[in-house]
Amino acid sequence: MAKKVARTTDSEPNLAPPVPTPAEVAALAVCARHGNKPSELMEILHELQHQVGYIPEHVLPVLARALNLSRAEVHGVVTFYHDFRREPPGRHVIKICRAEACQSMGTEQLCQHAERKLGAPLGTTSKDGAYSVEAVYCLGNCALSPAILIGDKLYGKVDPKRFDDIVAGLNKETAA
Ligand code: FES
Repeated sequence: MAKKVARTTDSEPNLAPPVPTPAEVAALAVCARHGNKPSELMEILHELQHQVGYIPEHVLPVLARALNLSRAEVHGVVTFYHDFRREPPGRHVIKICRAEACQSMGTEQLCQHAERKLGAPLGTTSKDGAYSVEAVYCLGNCALSPAILIGDKLYGKVDPKRFDDIVAGLNKETAA
């Protein structure tokens, strides 16, 4: 007669604590650097976004616990400010200024052109993950409006034609 073999079942509890994701580890480290002060939530979110590239949904409860805030409070701040990305950014983040001086020099047409050209409405990332297009409000380059910022490079007097040339340059850089 065959011996019965003891087996574990799916219903047995897994007692190992879940392994934190790199974003959660980063979130806890940033909170700790700010003394876990809830009043520093904005700085913490900016710093975290700088490190991780965006604010993943799953870190919101981690931030809330560390800062002794409710998850709704953290969620409210992240969704209220357009500066915070909730999805990973594209390889190139293109920020287009929509403030007054740039408005008067045609930034709306530029935005529409950029959206069509890259297939990504403002505030989103193109399907191929190459470009994120974001609106910003004054890049300090008003004398040369309309202005855009890509990475840390500022461009002035950007009309649709110049925009296409700049994007073509980015594509060449990526392919090199
Ligand atoms: S208004 Fe666009 S750079 Fe200042």
